[in-house]
Amino acid sequence: MIRQVDVRGVRFQVADEGTGSAILFVHGFPLNHTMWSAQIVEFAKTHRVIAPDLRGFGGTDGALYSVSMEQFADDLADLLDALSIRSPVTFCGLSMGGYIGWQFVQKYRHRVSHLIVCDSKAAADSSDAATNRLKMADIVLRDGPEPVAWAMMPKLFAKCSSDHCPAAIESVRRMVMATNPIAIAAAHRGMAVRPDVTGILPTIQTPTLIVCGEHDTISPPAEMESIASAIPRSRYVVVPNAGHMAPMEQPEFVNRVIREFVL
Ligand code: MLT
Repeated sequence: MIRQVDVRGVRFQVADEGTGSAILFVHGFPLNHTMWSAQIVEFAKTHRVIAPDLRGFGGTDGALYSVSMEQFADDLADLLDALSIRSPVTFCGLSMGGYIGWQFVQKYRHRVSHLIVCDSKAAADSSDAATNRLKMADIVLRDGPEPVAWAMMPKLFAKCSSDHCPAAIESVRRMVMATNPIAIAAAHRGMAVRPDVTGILPTIQTPTLIVCGEHDTISPPAEMESIASAIPRSRYVVVPNAGHMAPMEQPEFVNRVIREFVL
């Protein structure tokens, strides 16, 4: 069921399916909850699946000039309250969703039973990367999402998987093109100033699963493996024949890995 949930003046669009302990799926940039379609179908069989569109993205309003990863995390905590979910959840984020996950697990530790970070990073942006994001924020506000689609699409999918998942690629392209430019600019500005969380990784006591596409060039396997090795109770899994969008490229493999972790 797709619900509209009002939280502190923002109307969130949220997929809310199934019953049981909750898994919160947090999408990457600049996408929406439908990137988790295969996970929503699978995990709604056994869990309550909550997959929101983040502030400004998809069907959610409330876009701001800049949105920090902490603000996105606060939104999610408020959203769980609005949905009366008080028990700890499994938090599963991809890329920007992972940046938000680091903030969520620091600030709302008691609300997370398991943390899953797919194709993401712990380090902050280099100063060049941050500068490029600020430029891209201005470009998107002027020209719309197309320049972001041009910049990102070639990096998201592994060559080997793109042959057999043209529908996934087309759906991501459509998601990017349909995203509100104000939300894209705001998230770029927020990601440009996100903190380096490498130092907090050894303090995370929550059981954590790190998932990385074998051919991810945005958050490469070596970098993700070192994140996993810094977190005490972590498991690290490489997804064969996948790039940055591993849960879309190899949904059955990723679903199996998540299921083994959360059971
Ligand atoms: C994402 O997939 O969310 C982006 O690659 C995050 C980023 O731009 O760093």
